[in-house]
Amino acid sequence: MKTSVKKCLFPAAGYGTRFLPATKAIPKEMLPILTKPLLQYGVEEARSAGIDTMAIVTGRGKRAIEDHFDRSYELEHQIDGTPKEELMKEIRDIVKNCTISYTRQVEMKGLGHAILTGETLIGDEPFAVILADDLCDNGDNEPILSQMVKLYAQYQCSIVAVEEVPPKDTNKYGVVAGEFITPDIMRVNNMVEKPEPKDAPSNLAIIGRYILTPDIFDIIREVKPGKGGEIQITDALLEQAKQGKVIAYKFKGKRFDCGSVDGFVQATNYFYAKSNI
Ligand code: G1P
Repeated sequence: MKTSVKKCLFPAAGYGTRFLPATKAIPKEMLPILTKPLLQYGVEEARSAGIDTMAIVTGRGKRAIEDHFDRSYELEHQIDGTPKEELMKEIRDIVKNCTISYTRQVEMKGLGHAILTGETLIGDEPFAVILADDLCDNGDNEPILSQMVKLYAQYQCSIVAVEEVPPKDTNKYGVVAGEFITPDIMRVNNMVEKPEPKDAPSNLAIIGRYILTPDIFDIIREVKPGKGGEIQITDALLEQAKQGKVIAYKFKGKRFDCGSVDGFVQATNYFYAKSNI
C-alpha cells in the first residue's frame, strides 16, 4: 500500500435540493462563490496538498462538471490575448496539470455509498475526500487538506477534520469522541452520525475533509444502512476507530457550510471582502 496521499475523491452526486430552483439544471457543486464554482475551490485545495489526481463521483444531471474541467476551445479562442484570459488562469492550470476521472453513482444511498462508488478510481491506496459544499479558507495557515496530508505521513491512519459546533447543531454532523493525544489531535473511540444534542458524545463535528485508508472500502461494503436509511461513512469509520485507527484533527482555518443558504451567503460576503473585485 502506498504511504502518501496522491488522490482526492469528490462525492458530487447529491441533488442539492436546498438550493432549488438553482440546482434544477445546475449541479450544486457548480454554484459559484463570487466567480468560482465550489468544486473548483475544492480541487485547488487538493492541489495545494500535493494532489493532482482527482476522482469525482457524479450522477445524473452533472455533466456541467465535466465540461468545466475541460478545454473550451471556442471560448478560449475568443478571449486569447484579452485581459479576460486572466480569469481563466486557474482553471486552465487545473485542466493542464491534473488527471480528473469520473464515475457515476446510480442510486443515492448516502455518503458512504458514494465513497464506495469511487473505489474503482482510487484503488488500494490512501486517499483524501473533499465535500465541496464545505468551503474552507485557511487564512494565514497552510490549506486544511495540506495540514491533514502532513498528519497522515505521521500517523498512517484515517483522519477526519473536526470543529466545535454549538451543542444544538450536533444533529447536522457526524460527531466524534475520544482522547486528545495533543491539543489538536484526538484518538477517536466513538462516532455517531447526526445525533440529537442529548445523545451526542461531544460537540466536535466532522466537516467535509477526510483522509481514508483503503480498507475503508471493505468496511463500507459490510456496513448496514444507518441514519436516514443511508450507508454512512461515519458508521464505517467507527469500525476503524474501534481499532484505534482514526484520528480527529481540529484544523486551523475557517469553514463555511455552503450546503445551506446562510453559509453560502456568509462565504460569499467573506470572500468578497477579501477579493479585489
Ligand atoms: C456529511 C456526513 C457528516 C459530516 C458532514 C460534513 O453529512 O454524513 O458526518 O459531518 O457531511 O459536512 P451531509 O452534510 O452530507 O448531510
